[in-house]
Amino acid sequence: MIQYTDNLDNIAPGNLQGFFAGWPNPPDPETHLKILSRAYAIVLAVDTGTGNVIGFVNAISDGIHAAYIPLLEVLPEYQRQGIATRLMKFMIGKLSGLYMIDLATEEDLVPFYERFGMARGIAMVFRDMERQGGRVEAG
Ligand SMILES: CC(C)(COP(=O)(O)OP(=O)(O)OC[C@H]1O[C@@H](n2cnc3c(N)ncnc32)[C@H](O)[C@@H]1OP(=O)(O)O)[C@@H](O)C(=O)NCCC(=O)NCCS
Repeated sequence: MIQYTDNLDNIAPGNLQGFFAGWPNPPDPETHLKILSRAYAIVLAVDTGTGNVIGFVNAISDGIHAAYIPLLEVLPEYQRQGIATRLMKFMIGKLSGLYMIDLATEEDLVPFYERFGMARGIAMVFRDMERQGGRVEAG
C-alpha cells in the first residue's frame, strides 16, 4: 500500500534509495534527507510494505507570497500509477493561499502540470553542475 505523508520521523537515508535517476552527480541519501527536512513543505509517498520512500515532492517558500517546487520524483517501478498526481495535489493544497507557485520543467511534462491549473511561463535558471550533489557544509 502507498501512504502519503509529510512526516520524516521514520525516514532514514536508507529509505531514500534510487532517486535522482540519470543525474551525473546526485545528492546522496543523507543530503536528500537534509533537502527534505529543510524544505518549507514536503509530501512523501511511502511503500508501507518496505517503509521506503518511493516518491516525493518538496517546496521552498517565504510562507506568505511565493513558493518554488524544486523536485518531484517517483521511482521508475512505481511510475504511471498516479503517484505524482497525488503528490502534486497534496502539495498544492499545502501551498494554497500563496500568490505564486513556480517550477521549471521539461516540454513533455507541460500537459502534466497544466492539469493542476499551472500555466506555461518563461524560467531563467542557473545550475552549478559541480554542486549538483549539494553544497559542501562545514562540519
Ligand atoms: C514525472 C514523474 C514525476 C511522473 O510520475 P508518475 O507517478 O508516473 O505520474 P502520474 O502517474 O501521476 O502521471 C499522470 C500523467 O502525467 C503524464 N505523465 C507522467 N509521466 C510522464 C512523462 N515522463 N512524460 C510525459 N507525460 C507524463 C501522463 O499523462 C500520465 O497519465 P497516464 O499515465 O494516464 O498517461 C516521473 O516520471 C518521474 O519521477 N520522472 C523523473 C523525474 C522528473 O522528471 N520529475 C519532474 C521534474 S519537473
